[in-house]
Amino acid sequence: MRKKLVAGNWKMHKNLTESQALITEIRGIVRDEFRQNDAEIVVCPTALALASSARLVEGSEIRIGAQNVNENKEGAFTGEWSASMLKSAGVSHVIVGHSERRQYYNETSQACALKNKAAILEDLVVLYCVGETLEERESNQHFDIIKNQIEQGLEGITGEEMSQVVIAYEPVWAIGTGKTASAEQAQEVHAFIRSLIDSKYGQAISQAVRILYGGSVKPENAKQIFGMEDIDGGLIGGASLKPRDFFEIIKAAQ
Ligand code: 13P
Repeated sequence: MRKKLVAGNWKMHKNLTESQALITEIRGIVRDEFRQNDAEIVVCPTALALASSARLVEGSEIRIGAQNVNENKEGAFTGEWSASMLKSAGVSHVIVGHSERRQYYNETSQACALKNKAAILEDLVVLYCVGETLEERESNQHFDIIKNQIEQGLEGITGEEMSQVVIAYEPVWAIGTGKTASAEQAQEVHAFIRSLIDSKYGQAISQAVRILYGGSVKPENAKQIFGMEDIDGGLIGGASLKPRDFFEIIKAAQ
């Protein structure tokens, strides 16, 4: 049985004070209402708020994730931060290859492979994102696109290291648009991703790896999406900024 995981991606929202207030509110709800079988919870604030958020959730069920990491250990890379720096701030997870980073910062799957490796070597868990654009889906290229993103992004990652990898399928056309993939559409791609992991790493690993769905997940649609066989939780954008909605989504992932 794969343990479900729900991660909130705050993207570039909330200043430091607002972040502290939001994480404190989420922590309060989790403290009062979390039950043992609930999903694992990860919250990914901006880099600015990582260290203070990690301190604020100490002793709770909430883990803190970053939204990006540099592939180098250290050096002259202005504006960047390394996996060991994230770790030193109390971070345990990192999102790699989000479609917004692919789109606006030209991140390729090859670059993601280096980031994935660097994060894994520092014992971080990576949430590696893949997903097709609307144009790619409409021209029926989505399976090829996802196959390339998976193969290239996991280049150099060993079977053993796969225990530190979570995949997130986020169709670009469903992100922030209010348009969710239907549960069946998502399941079809999740099963495909699992089959790719199976060909590369074998059955034990492909059955253990968690594959999250992301794109307009809300309390109203979460249960149906998370009920599909190969969907192991979600990567939540907008709704993760609303503590009550976020927790309802966590509750839907059982
Ligand atoms: P929304 O939930 O706002 O559609 O964002 C999804 C996402 O990009 C999470 O990483």
